[in-house]
Amino acid sequence: MTQTTLAAAGTDVSAQARRRRTFAVISHPDAGKSTLTEALALHARVISEAGAVHGKAGRRGVTSDWMEMEQARGISITSAALQFAYGDTVINLLDTPGHADFSEDTYRVLSAVDSAVMLLDAAKGLEPQTLKLFDVCRYRGIPVITFINKWDRPGRAALDLCDELTERIGLPPMPLTWPVGEAGHFRGVADLRSGEFVRFHRTAGGATAAGEEHLTGEAAEAEGGAEWTAAREEAELLQASGGEFDAARFEDASATPLLFGAAVANFGVRQLLDLLVELAPRPTARADAEGRPRELTQPFSAFVFKVQTGMDRAHRDQVAFARVCSGKFERGMVVTNATTGKPFATKYVQQVFGQQRSTLDTAYPGDVIGLVNATALRVGDTLHDGKPAVKFPGLPSFAPAHFAVARPADIGRAKQFRRGIEQLGAEGVVQVLTSDLRGDGSPVLAAVGPMQFEVATHRLEHEFGCVVRLDHLPYTAVRRLPDPAQRAIVDRERSSEVFARADGTLLAVFEQEMNLRILQRQKPELVLEPLVADG
Ligand code: G4P
Repeated sequence: MTQTTLAAAGTDVSAQARRRRTFAVISHPDAGKSTLTEALALHARVISEAGAVHGKAGRRGVTSDWMEMEQARGISITSAALQFAYGDTVINLLDTPGHADFSEDTYRVLSAVDSAVMLLDAAKGLEPQTLKLFDVCRYRGIPVITFINKWDRPGRAALDLCDELTERIGLPPMPLTWPVGEAGHFRGVADLRSGEFVRFHRTAGGATAAGEEHLTGEAAEAEGGAEWTAAREEAELLQASGGEFDAARFEDASATPLLFGAAVANFGVRQLLDLLVELAPRPTARADAEGRPRELTQPFSAFVFKVQTGMDRAHRDQVAFARVCSGKFERGMVVTNATTGKPFATKYVQQVFGQQRSTLDTAYPGDVIGLVNATALRVGDTLHDGKPAVKFPGLPSFAPAHFAVARPADIGRAKQFRRGIEQLGAEGVVQVLTSDLRGDGSPVLAAVGPMQFEVATHRLEHEFGCVVRLDHLPYTAVRRLPDPAQRAIVDRERSSEVFARADGTLLAVFEQEMNLRILQRQKPELVLEPLVADG
């Protein structure tokens, strides 16, 4: 390329990156993530009828059937990115698998986003899975927008939910809308910046975008009555005590813009989209493994954040999902895998969501590409085009919550067992730990969600020809033990022990948080560190 064409390409990439908003929804199962995803896509008119994404009974749905266990359970463990245009903005919504398929992959998705939408059920507030995902966002400094859902049915008071955000996770809310009418009697929202009463009209089953009516001044007073006045007073109260909107506090992730709505009826969803366009961070230069920024306009680079095997049963293929960090991606490029130094041909690259796939020809920073037939790619790998080479930080490990000792059912298959375990550990399917105290040297598998064990045992049997027996261990709490000299303190207890990760990190595991706290009280010299994500 000549200097002029290079410069033109750089301008194109910068402009395209500025249009992108790449985010994920973090929530607890049943808060309404699938419903919200549909509603967002609906507003952008990607799918013409609500219900096309997640396949609940009675709606036309997309399901995937890639493994027997998935079919047996009737859930989808396919996850990827949904891309749609909203006006001039390109929205990339990355899926965070929840329910029974909550796993390390769910956390890893958060390494590929620039912001997150925390979705809460108005009746429940902060729930365990939301808290775990929020911890990862906080650790990575990801800005979070909060959307309180299901306002159309009885729930908690708005101020009470706001207090919970401040007190429980130290994330003060900055409301941009405030509900008119308490939960269950939702009439609309007060737009706190424009001063308008945005009155909603219910539409049948949320199948079309909700009708909105914008009222101001006397019309708002007359229509909203006492509920309008109460809403404004409450919002003012919160704003006066530190809840005034400040974009800088959102960007540095020290406070969260707050919206109210009802995804099922498409209430408040447009406000969320508009907020994402206005406020959510655009892709920026990403730091490589040495901490040097890879500028957006440098040649193509991407990192693999998820690998899925056998999504298409007929082909038993493997799709690697990579987030583009710099440059323009064009299908057919031959790129380099920085981990192996080997070339990788990108002839088959797709956008995948549910079972729908479409061939993708170009992608820009912030986009997710699905590389088909990618058996050579692993989570954490970097792909780049030409020089200079780049390598992004490797596979992060998250705090596991499930532990099991693995042994081959047939001792004659010990070699296949060892090879399989090593491979699955390297791919990040499960974490492989060892223990000095456990006599037979059997590895301990650790996972964020139990589905990772199912995937591991399934693959050990079908790919490595080794049936595995798992003995589940009763541990639920884990910390990093920085000082090896202190391992005896933990190992001596009946309800705890110490495992080593392949990188040498020592993990102290406890049956319950309570056991951990008691031991720390008894042995104040014991140093334990939280384990969110590293690597
Ligand atoms: P998830 O992906 O977070 O697990 O949640 P999902 O969207 O599947 O929603 C869980 C349930 O909550 C669904 O009901 C859904 O209709 C309902 N829901 C989502 N948003 C709202 C809302 O704003 N208001 C009300 N009232 N309900 C909402 P379901 O009975 O489990 O399934 P379905 O048969 O209705 O789809």
